Amino acid sequence: MKVLVTGGCGYIGSHTCVQLLNAGHEVVIVDNLFNSKPSVLKRIAALTPEPPRFYKGDIRDRELLDAVFRAEKIDSVIHFAGLKAVGESVRIPLTYYDNNVYGTIQLLHAMREAGVHRLVFSSSATVYGELAPVPYKEEYPVSRASSPYGQTKIAIEYILKDLAAAEPDWSIILLRYFNPVGAHPSGTMGEDPQGIPNNLMPYIAQVAVGRLPEMLIYGNDYPTKDGTGVRDFIHVMDLADGHVLALEWGAGNSGCRAFNLGAGKGYSVMDLLHSFSKALGRELPYRFVGRRAGDLAAFWADASLAREVLGFETRRGIDEMTADVWRWQSVNPNGYPDE
Ligand code: NAD
Ligand code: UD1
Repeated sequence: MKVLVTGGCGYIGSHTCVQLLNAGHEVVIVDNLFNSKPSVLKRIAALTPEPPRFYKGDIRDRELLDAVFRAEKIDSVIHFAGLKAVGESVRIPLTYYDNNVYGTIQLLHAMREAGVHRLVFSSSATVYGELAPVPYKEEYPVSRASSPYGQTKIAIEYILKDLAAAEPDWSIILLRYFNPVGAHPSGTMGEDPQGIPNNLMPYIAQVAVGRLPEMLIYGNDYPTKDGTGVRDFIHVMDLADGHVLALEWGAGNSGCRAFNLGAGKGYSVMDLLHSFSKALGRELPYRFVGRRAGDLAAFWADASLAREVLGFETRRGIDEMTADVWRWQSVNPNGYPDE
């Protein structure tokens, strides 16, 4: 299939492009490079039989999207493009709604105009809200998310469900990611956040490489086995494989369906830190500080629906996640080069 990948230069998108190309699909990327660097394209090309085609541009630019759909015979779209910093979304919500929700609406108009009706969308476990019992199941009602970022995911999920209900030729898959971590095993691709990382794994990696002095662990008084938060970490390569399966399943099915992409089990912040220390061969400095506002104690996926319907199973455990991140970070201490 020929797949348009919005946000294909970003963390999850770039790894997914590698797996799509290696599975024999053609890839066309649209990315405005707001949160990524063009040098990732060479890294993707080095790992795949065919390089992806690339259009630099914004998904809110209808003229650009129409031109891409005219120039390329697209079969399906995987839509990663969006802003994702939870704290920032609280400060500038309008920017988040504009980029994520309006951007998605523009993409949907362009797809409809071009007669392309297959979409895989990057959603998040945050749509389950703060009160859902674990493990999270797809049948739970979508609840109010704890941030404007999360609210954009909920808004988009509703838009996509309404669209599929009104126009039955659409095939739409909502993939609700749990906590994506890890890097390509080659050490040439990985997560490259701009500025000080908000999320746990890139923070650990930057402490390991000496860019940050110590780990701050937000809370050791949660009702969990060691008092630290528990999350369902999923290797980005497993997540990428999940997109290939979803894309292929979507080609034979219509309607709108949500799937959790998680491992189906939780590990604590301390588990991840210890695993990373093993990969590194030394202990990392850390300090317990107060809880971070908005954090939940523990959540993980019920991963059975994706297994039963898509045939999706995670194959890489936390030691592989941390070893791969360390390989990427130690070879590329400052992330991707600028050019
Ligand atoms: P990322 O920031 O690394 O990648 C997103 C890419 O989209 C970037 O390359 C950015 O330049 C591009 N982009 C942003 N706005 C755009 C626009 N208007 N037009 C064109 N390109 C645009 O993020 P990621 O971690 O790869 O996440 C991908 C998707 O998955 C996002 O939608 C995110 O919300 C969702 N998600 C991520 C996580 C996570 O932990 N990383 C968890 C759940 C959901
Ligand atoms: C966060 C977002 C969530 C988003 C997800 C993936 C918040 C409140 N939630 O989830 O909406 O979908 O990222 O992008 O931001 N931790 C530390 N020290 C750190 C960083 C994190 O102890 O420096 C702890 C956190 O308290 C948490 C765990 O590590 O217990 C995981 O944190 P993180 O990687 O930020 O992911 P989430 O909070 O699950």
